Amino acid sequence: MSAKPDESVEPDLERGDVTPAPGEATSERVRGIFAGIANRYDLFNILSSWGIDRVWRKRTVRLAGIRKGDRVLDLCAGTGDLSLAIARDTEASEVVGSDFVPEMLEVAERKLERYEGRAAVSFCLVDAQDIPFDDESFEVVTVAFGVRNLPDRPANFSEVFRVLRPGGRYVILEFSRPILAPFRWFYHFYLRLVIPVLGGLLTGDRPSFQYLNDSIRRFPAQAALSAELREAGFTAITWHNLSFGIAAVHIATK
Ligand SMILES: C[S@@+](CC[C@H](N)C(=O)[O-])C[C@H]1O[C@@H](n2cnc3c(N)ncnc32)[C@H](O)[C@@H]1O
Repeated sequence: MSAKPDESVEPDLERGDVTPAPGEATSERVRGIFAGIANRYDLFNILSSWGIDRVWRKRTVRLAGIRKGDRVLDLCAGTGDLSLAIARDTEASEVVGSDFVPEMLEVAERKLERYEGRAAVSFCLVDAQDIPFDDESFEVVTVAFGVRNLPDRPANFSEVFRVLRPGGRYVILEFSRPILAPFRWFYHFYLRLVIPVLGGLLTGDRPSFQYLNDSIRRFPAQAALSAELREAGFTAITWHNLSFGIAAVHIATK
């Protein structure tokens, strides 16, 4: 794993051949997909990533540099794993987990019943492109595997910028571009063939997993995402590759 300064924006030629997913990535479509798979989402994650997603979330919490007393907003929190990891493993005073799919948050609420940490944790319905909190109300905003599902990323970046205090950080864990070519080929093969089959078996909804795969393959590589964040006004943007770049944590400062 490495931390690199954001120095260059490389054209990502390999992504030019991605076949468009059937239909647009509308909020309604994304909502329908996650409402349908909410109860099997955690199981799918563990089986498809061989459990590595948990390691990635833990690493994200460490990299986020959350300090004692910080208020943290976790966007696209889904079934709540990142929100609860932040609450357990940092000295944040408050963690607000948010998502726009009630079925995902119901699973998170069930996990919250077993939570015994010090930080105040709550879950609420929020569209990450239209955040209903005051300006400058959080020290840290996080999002894990959510940004690539947003049809309007600039709207999300501008909303996060607004709700962060000056000096606050936006911490994004997302699938990214593996750095070694042979590894990248294997990974795309795995995405294309294994994930829709596994997702289809677990949920009966293979097309949704095909769509989610396409969203991974279309998502900007590390440097391009950094450029988008810079465009939105963030500074001191860094990224940390996880598992040779299968995923990356971007950290952007207001
Ligand atoms: C792949 S899941 C990630 C969940 C969780 N963060 C995790 O690490 O497992 C993506 C989540 O983003 C949510 N999501 C997608 N678009 C959203 C939006 N516009 N506003 C809020 N949540 C959204 C989905 O409902 C889903 O729960």
